[in-house]
Amino acid sequence: MKYVIGVDLGTSAVKILLVSQQGEVVQTVSKAYPLFHEKTGYSEQNPEDWVTGTIAGLQELLQNFSGAPEDIEGISFSGQMHGLVLLDGSNEVLRPAILWNDTRTTAECKKIVETVGQERLLEITKNPALEGFTLPKILWVKEYEPEIFNKAQSFVLPKDYLRYRMTGELHMEYSDAAGTLLLDISKQQWSTEICELLDLDPNICPPLLDSHAEVGTLTAEFAEQSGLAQTTRVFAGGADNACGAIGSGILEDGKTLCSIGTSGVVLSYEASDDKEFGGKVHYFNHAAPNAFYTMGVTLAAGYSLTWFKDVFAAGESFDELLAEVGTVPAGSNGLLFTPYLVGERTPHADASIRASFIGMDSSHQRKDFVRAVLEGITFSLNESIAIFRDSGKHIDTIVSIGGGAQNEDWLQMQADIFNATIVRLKSEQGPGMGAAMLAAFGCGWFHSLQACADVFLEEGKQFTPDPANVEQYEKLFAVYTEVYGQTKELNEKLVAFRK
Ligand code: XUL
Repeated sequence: MKYVIGVDLGTSAVKILLVSQQGEVVQTVSKAYPLFHEKTGYSEQNPEDWVTGTIAGLQELLQNFSGAPEDIEGISFSGQMHGLVLLDGSNEVLRPAILWNDTRTTAECKKIVETVGQERLLEITKNPALEGFTLPKILWVKEYEPEIFNKAQSFVLPKDYLRYRMTGELHMEYSDAAGTLLLDISKQQWSTEICELLDLDPNICPPLLDSHAEVGTLTAEFAEQSGLAQTTRVFAGGADNACGAIGSGILEDGKTLCSIGTSGVVLSYEASDDKEFGGKVHYFNHAAPNAFYTMGVTLAAGYSLTWFKDVFAAGESFDELLAEVGTVPAGSNGLLFTPYLVGERTPHADASIRASFIGMDSSHQRKDFVRAVLEGITFSLNESIAIFRDSGKHIDTIVSIGGGAQNEDWLQMQADIFNATIVRLKSEQGPGMGAAMLAAFGCGWFHSLQACADVFLEEGKQFTPDPANVEQYEKLFAVYTEVYGQTKELNEKLVAFRK
């Protein structure tokens, strides 16, 4: 029996999956690492922690593996997107990585738009300048840490750095490069135009590869440290959202994904790069060959629920907190929540906006608040679905994964708010499964990722929209969409009071 490994290098932990040729998940191991928030809005990680966490995870996995290391034929990756890892001429890390959820770069985003021009930026990268993306982070280091920047010879993204440490080869692949704001999405080339306009040496951009491309095999050192065979074939991998999509079977036009973790995304497969969204949703290269996807992001999705639990129900489990949600009618008795706890991305790219509860009434109980939080997160994601539908996309079935797929009341709520059939997966593994599938496809076990999905993935329970709730939610969604505009100025005034 042959196996592949999918390494999902996330924001809070690395999760490693060992998957058999039949798609059976034989083992999962997870190793957590810290996030550093030195100042408000800062979010950094130490790239060495990714490497040590992955080695520890692989060691554990191999200790419990009954086969020989040589039976593990391939390994590939899914990575948290956008994080900046700056390297010197010897590929030594120059400073901690600045992550996707770091928002220090508002001024740099403004500079990019002023210098490149909003239209030209959209033409080349298909995306607007957002704090989370990589290019603004590069400009921030250039401005505030020139002595570090002057030593930089190249930059990579988190999983690319890990792969470099495993193989000694430095690359980036298209699905993650798309989130740097330096890639010409259609031509699949680095944009020397953007580099030159912003006075960056294009040579800091590493060579590009397909996600299923074979990079090489392991270094003798990494093989020895991890216990893997040195002959293990290493494949480039993809951005976590692209891999989450592959691991959920989002591999043809019309397929849509809702993934609710700390942040939440809705993502739709695109066969071509010629749709016009004007930057309202992200438009990235897929990790499936010659494909794309559009994606809307709610920054505080699962995080809104975690925040509510920590503040108002510390010590309770999520199951306890959500136990009565099903007894509250759709619409939470007139209580509405917007999930802008840390600002927002889609459809309002706004780092200053903050969350609201609107319509609080003396009759409301805690369970109304809990339902309102779930509804608010789901409404936020529905704004992205509305953008997809406005562009002419037909969305009638959505695969739901992540924390949002673990509670049946929430799954039914997604069906009612999105007005679409919601499908759960039987054995949901998230982006790590997409990474394993890239390795399986790269190894030549299947002629396409779809053929691999047919063997590796199985759909589970479905949730169909309830017409009465759909009608109720359509009306409430119209009210929800007004809250942003009505609270924007108020929140700008409140910024001064945030300590
Ligand atoms: C996508 C984004 C997040 C990260 C999480 O643009 O910023 O979903 O990929 O790892």
